[in-house]
Amino acid sequence: MRIETVAVHAGFTVDPSTGAVAPPIHLSTTFGRDEAGRPLAGHTYVRESNPTQDLLEEALSRLEGGEAALAFGSGMAAGLAVAQALPPGSHVVLPEDVYYAYRVAARDFFPAWGLTATFVPLDQPGALSGALRPETRLVWLESPSNPLLKITDLAASAAAAREVGALVLVDNTFATPILQRPLDLGADVVLHATTKGMGGHSDVQGGALVFSRKGDHFEKVRHVRTILGAVASPFNSWLVLRGLRTLAVRARFQSETAFAVAGALAAHPAVSKVNYPGLPSHPGHDTARRQMSAFGSMISFHVGAGTEAAIRAVGRTRLFTRATSLGGVESLVEHRATSEGPASTAPGDLIRLSIGLEHRDDLLADLAQALGD
Ligand SMILES: Cc1ncc(COP(=O)(O)O)c(C=O)c1O
Repeated sequence: MRIETVAVHAGFTVDPSTGAVAPPIHLSTTFGRDEAGRPLAGHTYVRESNPTQDLLEEALSRLEGGEAALAFGSGMAAGLAVAQALPPGSHVVLPEDVYYAYRVAARDFFPAWGLTATFVPLDQPGALSGALRPETRLVWLESPSNPLLKITDLAASAAAAREVGALVLVDNTFATPILQRPLDLGADVVLHATTKGMGGHSDVQGGALVFSRKGDHFEKVRHVRTILGAVASPFNSWLVLRGLRTLAVRARFQSETAFAVAGALAAHPAVSKVNYPGLPSHPGHDTARRQMSAFGSMISFHVGAGTEAAIRAVGRTRLFTRATSLGGVESLVEHRATSEGPASTAPGDLIRLSIGLEHRDDLLADLAQALGD
């Protein structure tokens, strides 16, 4: 079955007891047992599992081609559950421009968990091999990366990590499984901030992990989720599941528009550089072509006249909404260093765009007037 069809159907069939075509939201926090104390339908308590979350996890597994998935309350909770499941003394390799809050987490929490971290320019061939140690237990990849849209060769990185027996996690938030399937390229676990494209409407926070195998590692991470409690609520699970139904059409449409916007920005005299893997000038273009079916809805670009000019341009947009986040139906614009705050390593002249579902001509006109025609 093709992924577009999976996105529409995975996780639910018409309910024989009611005939409902859309899935129900089960808000119950607790579940009944029979006279012998056995759970009536497999569930016991909402933090352990619940029927609406089950539907979402089944759909996520099918979309990413994994054996099992776990839904979380946020993308941060999902990613850090993998770190929390590592034994003390483990070394973790992360991309130099990993999503900034994970960098903050590695700085502020890894030491207390007994973990060490090395930040590496993983888009550079060979950089990963030099950073691997016998105690490296996790290699964290993010491609395209946030906010510089760097591309990492996922298959080559997974092969290098496997040589030291490290787990490979890929943050697939920017691409979504419609455009890139890391488990097919050798990753062990895929991470999503479902707050973004998966939810798709800027109205739900969530995170997810999809595992290539439902083995020991899956069980350890599930234990972290159950005991530390960063689980998704039934209502949020339902909203993400609803978002998945239109994911394929949104991801492809948004990619096409982003491709056109990136090309127009590259030709604009006020723009010194565009970071978009679909442009042949992008250093990761060939790798992106190999591992992605389209290049995604995210673009970042540098304003030639510097930081103040970038901030002014963001302030002049009328159609783009000035806000952080991504993957929603409305296009967003932000001065990235301002959004990230003091922990930011984003260049001051960098503007980040999330392309939504508006007509491309309206978006192009807004950018043209904001940058000064
Ligand atoms: C690539 C990426 N991963 C993870 C996250 C974290 O997700 P959340 O904000 O749901 O915790 C974000 C948030 O922006 C992100 O952009």
